[in-house]
Amino acid sequence: MVPVFDLRSQYERMRDEILDELREVADSLQFISGPKVASFEAKFASALGVKRCVGVNSGTSALHLALLGAGVGAGDEVITVPFTFIATSWAISYIGATPVYVDVAPDTFTMDMTRVEEHITSRTRAFLPVHLYGQACNLEPLQFLSQKYGIPIVEDAAQAYGATYRGRSVATFGTTAGFSFYPGKNLGAGGEAGAVVTNDDRIADRLMALRDHAQYNRYSHEEIGFNYRMDSLQGAILGVKLQYAEQWVAERRRLAARYLEELEGLPIQLPIEAQYGQHAWHLFVVMHPKRDQLREMLLSMQVSSALHYPRPLHLQPAYQHLNHRCGDFPVAERAANECLSLPLFPEMTEDQQSIVIDAVRTALVGGVWK
Ligand SMILES: Cc1ncc(COP(=O)(O)O)c(C=O)c1O
Repeated sequence: MVPVFDLRSQYERMRDEILDELREVADSLQFISGPKVASFEAKFASALGVKRCVGVNSGTSALHLALLGAGVGAGDEVITVPFTFIATSWAISYIGATPVYVDVAPDTFTMDMTRVEEHITSRTRAFLPVHLYGQACNLEPLQFLSQKYGIPIVEDAAQAYGATYRGRSVATFGTTAGFSFYPGKNLGAGGEAGAVVTNDDRIADRLMALRDHAQYNRYSHEEIGFNYRMDSLQGAILGVKLQYAEQWVAERRRLAARYLEELEGLPIQLPIEAQYGQHAWHLFVVMHPKRDQLREMLLSMQVSSALHYPRPLHLQPAYQHLNHRCGDFPVAERAANECLSLPLFPEMTEDQQSIVIDAVRTALVGGVWK
């Protein structure tokens, strides 16, 4: 069976390096924060070309802090997308703010920038676009609106380590940005982890305190804080993996290019790489109206696949109170019904990819469709 992603082959290649680091942390007895986290933060900020990085315990926490850092408070509105992982909206809700959804564009499935301005109100406090599947959203029109209305951009870069927009890393455009280091991400930890990045020292200093119970000085809590600290073990693992992350993104790009070349012309919507940037191919997602049937056919040919994401956020029971209906965001709804993530991971072999390509061809060309 070809898996959607495979953590084992990656781990085995750097097993010794990782185990050495883990031993060092265990022997130091410094399990939370400390030098391993600080060292990773410095390296990660420099890899992106951003001033500061605040390591935290998940991508969800990172987005929560990123929004607080940008000044979002209870009662505010945040313009975001309905087609993403639920955590994008959780971060808004944790603050007591309201997600205001804008549909996604039918080619990239990222925020449709032509629809943003009509959703701005006097309560809009931030834009929270998502660099979905590892592809930058089109930031320039959003920067224009950000300047025109004085509304900060907070980037959800959870899936987009390695992506660029007009030659610059994503996550360096907004006031703040959040990353997830969930193990399957382009840069994955050995457990839960995330980070906020920013070029603003004042914001970074505040977030460093907020992640640690808002302790600006020990046992002095200036505002309500959180326990969002990063474990030392995660900092250590991320420090090792960061050295390879650029190479892994290059592998992802090579694999995606082969998919695009060999699947071209089939009756299926292939993902595109927008001209304005470099796709980091966290996921390779195709669209097909009979997605579930295609998925079953692939499975019968030993090919796993996954759904990112089968239900848009405006139709989730948790967001019923926003009073959205089916039909409100047609592109997001179609994407949710049709999306199918094919296997893609840096260590994928040529043979594994050939199996996937042949299976997709067989299913689409020779398959029996009900
Ligand atoms: C787009 C997006 N935002 C936020 C998150 C939340 O990250 P985490 O799972 O690390 O909390 C994820 C990852 O799962 C994600 O894919």
